[in-house]
Amino acid sequence: MYKNLKNKKIIISAGASGIGWSTAKLFLSRGATVYICDIDKKLINKTKKHPLNNKKLFSYECDASNENQVSTFFQQVSKKTKKIDALINNIGIAGPTGTIEKLKSKDWEQTLKVNVISHFYFSRLAIPMLKKNKNGTIINFSSTAGIFGFPLRSPYAASKWAVVGITKTMAMELGRFKIRVNAICPGTIKGDRMGRVIRDKAKFLKVSKKLVEKEFLSMTSLKNWIYEEDIGKMCCFLVSEDAERISGQIISVDGNTISMH
Ligand SMILES: NC(=O)c1ccc[n+]([C@@H]2O[C@H](COP(=O)([O-])OP(=O)(O)OC[C@H]3O[C@@H](n4cnc5c(N)ncnc54)[C@H](O)[C@@H]3O)[C@@H](O)[C@H]2O)c1
Repeated sequence: MYKNLKNKKIIISAGASGIGWSTAKLFLSRGATVYICDIDKKLINKTKKHPLNNKKLFSYECDASNENQVSTFFQQVSKKTKKIDALINNIGIAGPTGTIEKLKSKDWEQTLKVNVISHFYFSRLAIPMLKKNKNGTIINFSSTAGIFGFPLRSPYAASKWAVVGITKTMAMELGRFKIRVNAICPGTIKGDRMGRVIRDKAKFLKVSKKLVEKEFLSMTSLKNWIYEEDIGKMCCFLVSEDAERISGQIISVDGNTISMH
């Protein structure tokens, strides 16, 4: 089924851990070549030593919210390839937890810079490489917080709704170049990041972590955690030719979120 991912060339932002790394491993195991960047030097070095790194993985230290560093990353990638098949704009931080009156402007600004403007930095430089390929795809990472309101996480919700706007617009601008643009909205992913989100919410509300976790899982029809691999599988599908007529879509992988409170 995934024969058509063989030799595809994929760039993933913030790809050295979490969903990005899990997705990178899935693409590598299906024969693709993957170029990742991440702000965390230790994690980047760890990926370089990974057994799947068989000359098909290029890892580079880069702050996705720093335009010059993103440019340098692309200069390094372009020494290896002039064309790519996909850009996965995975970068996105959780941002602060709190009510509007309690949040700080600098945290708002940082969340929008990392979650929204960095997608612009990567897309701007990836589009010429996708155009050279005369075919390709961009996957932006939104969230279920880009579909619902998300109490105590207003900067994050604003950033993820912005990603929906960018996705719809890029799909319209790039369709005539055979470049498809979609967004994935992951739900509550089992892993370190949700652990931190649950801890911060429990602290803010002065309730137990168990209670917050139970509430998160109760917000979906399937009442279950989502796993990083579930998101990687959707990325593989969207990059594959099986998705060649899918563009401009906002696709949730979340067990069907019914509310966020
Ligand atoms: N984890 C979830 O439950 C969840 C839910 C919905 C949406 N998402 C979205 O999915 C995407 C990936 O989430 P995740 O949970 O894997 O993230 P994560 O918090 O686990 O971080 C992944 C990587 O991002 C890197 N990173 C952080 N800031 C960076 C920067 N400025 N430049 C480069 N790298 C940076 C980290 O070093 C880390 O390796 C994000 O866009 C996130 O908003 C995640």
